Amino acid sequence: MTIQETLALFKPDLVASGKQDEVLEIIKKNGLEVLRKEEINLEKARAELFYEEHKERPFFNDLVQFMTSGPIVALKLRGEEAIPKWRSIMGPTNYEKAKSEAPESIRALYANSTQENAVHGSDSPQSAERELKIFFPEQ
Ligand code: RTP
Ligand code: MG
Repeated sequence: MTIQETLALFKPDLVASGKQDEVLEIIKKNGLEVLRKEEINLEKARAELFYEEHKERPFFNDLVQFMTSGPIVALKLRGEEAIPKWRSIMGPTNYEKAKSEAPESIRALYANSTQENAVHGSDSPQSAERELKIFFPEQ
């Protein structure tokens, strides 16, 4: 087993819902430690950089628009296998799939749609390293 660090984001829909404390409880209950937590307004250029792997996708402009539509919360999480563990707690990207296949997941409980899906999580050690630098460049 490996101790890993990963980036989590609470997306604008979750922050606006006022339910981020419930998600923080889920994070802690699953044994993940919150090393850093910061509420920010994501500017367009940083949203585009963050999601650059999706820049050719049809949903890219909508996604950047959504992610800059209100405050988000960036978190640095640490724990055993934190990267896959956090992805598993989040649930599938697709909202219908989250509801049917992972009804206890954060996306099943808090997402509004496949785009407005409450949370982000790094999907590999390489992504975690890149993404943590974007939000927590000083460490
Ligand atoms: P994330 O990067 O936010 O953790 O989500 P993910 O890995 O589960 O999904 P990814 O394929 O990386 O997509 C990034 C985000 O783009 C939005 N999306 N919209 N309208 C659509 O079909 C669609 N597909 C993806 C979601 O907000 C997704 O989380
Ligand atoms: Mg992704």
